[in-house]
Amino acid sequence: MIIQETIKGIREEVKSARRKKRTVGFVPTMGFLHEGHLSLIQAAKAKHDLVVVSIFVNPLQFGPNEDFDRYPRDFERDEQLAKEAGADVLFYPSVTEMYPKEMPMTIHVTRGTDVLCGASRPGHFDGVATVVMKLFQIVQPDEAFFGQKDAQQVAIIANMIEAFNVPIQLNTCPTIREEDGLAKSSRNVYLTAEERQEAPIIYQTLQYGAKRIQAGEKKREIILAEMKERLLSASGRIDYVEVLSYPSLKQPEQLSGRIILAIAYFYQHARLIDNYILEA
Ligand code: PAJ
Repeated sequence: MIIQETIKGIREEVKSARRKKRTVGFVPTMGFLHEGHLSLIQAAKAKHDLVVVSIFVNPLQFGPNEDFDRYPRDFERDEQLAKEAGADVLFYPSVTEMYPKEMPMTIHVTRGTDVLCGASRPGHFDGVATVVMKLFQIVQPDEAFFGQKDAQQVAIIANMIEAFNVPIQLNTCPTIREEDGLAKSSRNVYLTAEERQEAPIIYQTLQYGAKRIQAGEKKREIILAEMKERLLSASGRIDYVEVLSYPSLKQPEQLSGRIILAIAYFYQHARLIDNYILEA
């Protein structure tokens, strides 16, 4: 596995693969890799000759009071894990390599950000879209791999690809979980032992809501109230509990068609998100 810290270096790597008619798969990450990330790398490796993984904690997508400085980082461990999962090239740029000067323009996402993480983290998805567009231009892959765990992110990237005619295929991979159901996340390391034990309640609440919808409950307000009620026994704080149409992310009074149930939950030092998609 080759490590490239510069844009010039990564471009040359991809160009040389292209000359040999190799296809390129791309997995953008912020590092501190876990099995969720590794499943994306494996999916990319199964389909493509050259797999590029980026590790870049993007300051643009963190709010002023969020955890940019505290975001967990461990490059040596990531390097080992990425290699084992099948990465061929690791793109590991510095902040100044990616943003040598203040960006003279950014992507402003105008649809799909009034709910979920877009509503509770203003500007977050502008930062995500901007860095992903930059990474797409740098790597120019055939296909990019994203996780369903960040369902709103995937929906926004799909819209961006369509809106800007980006010639890259989007591949959405299923959420990888711990044995007790907790979605794998780089931020799970910030849970206390008690919080870690309790945290599967997030996924259990999503499963409960899904079961109620599948059993015929059609009223969004009732599902929301029941899910919130279940979370009351936990020691953290609800950021949001939502039930929306998917992928349009609207709030239907009566649930039908494809539905996403989503939760964001604050523990002391970590905000966790998870979601569940079903056919009502
Ligand atoms: P990060 O949180 O590191 O996630 C990188 C990719 O891994 C995303 O596509 C995310 O959805 C996926 N992922 C995370 N946890 C997962 C899990 N448990 N199962 C399956 N996939 C999972 O998302 C970002 O970074 C950034 O916003 C980024 C797209 C890199 C832009 O900065």
